[in-house]
Amino acid sequence: MADGEQVFRLTYKSRLRVPQHDRKAELGAIFSTARSKNTRAGITGALLVWEDHIVQSLEGDEDTVRALYDVIERDPRHDRVEVIGTETAARVFGRWSMARVTEDDEPDIPLLMNRDKGGISPAAPRATTPEEDVALDAMREHVRG
Ligand SMILES: Cc1cc2nc3c(=O)[nH]c(=O)nc-3n(C[C@H](O)[C@H](O)[C@H](O)COP(=O)(O)O)c2cc1C
Repeated sequence: MADGEQVFRLTYKSRLRVPQHDRKAELGAIFSTARSKNTRAGITGALLVWEDHIVQSLEGDEDTVRALYDVIERDPRHDRVEVIGTETAARVFGRWSMARVTEDDEPDIPLLMNRDKGGISPAAPRATTPEEDVALDAMREHVRG
């Protein structure tokens, strides 16, 4: 992605309606579909799942993001779908066709991160960029609040 590229970002929250015993498989299917379709559509983002709370950010071309949101909104695997915010700004999740932000099930980014207070080894690679941290913290606030 070119530096300074402006994209449209839409963030929504919803309630997962998949029964607990189907969750692992169903979330696997959602991430698999999302990653392959988003890659083709130039969409990047993050999907945060905590218990039955979902917060997802989608970024890319505005028409493409809005069309995808219309599809996702009608997906019966969740309900109470509500847009939290939209903005046009630099792409934040350029590394991720859809980052998995969860407490378990092999997250790309752990949901509850221990804030680094300087104790981390200098050799340890950064898990997230400062821009990702800002966006993810806002998403985490919505999932908890
Ligand atoms: C919480 C949630 C997040 C989703 N995120 C995406 C996504 O980022 N990209 C995507 O293409 N589909 C996503 N989906 C799936 C769409 O709702 C829809 O099932 C899918 O795009 C249909 O793909 P198909 O026409 O190839 O079967 C998501 C579904 C749910 C429930």
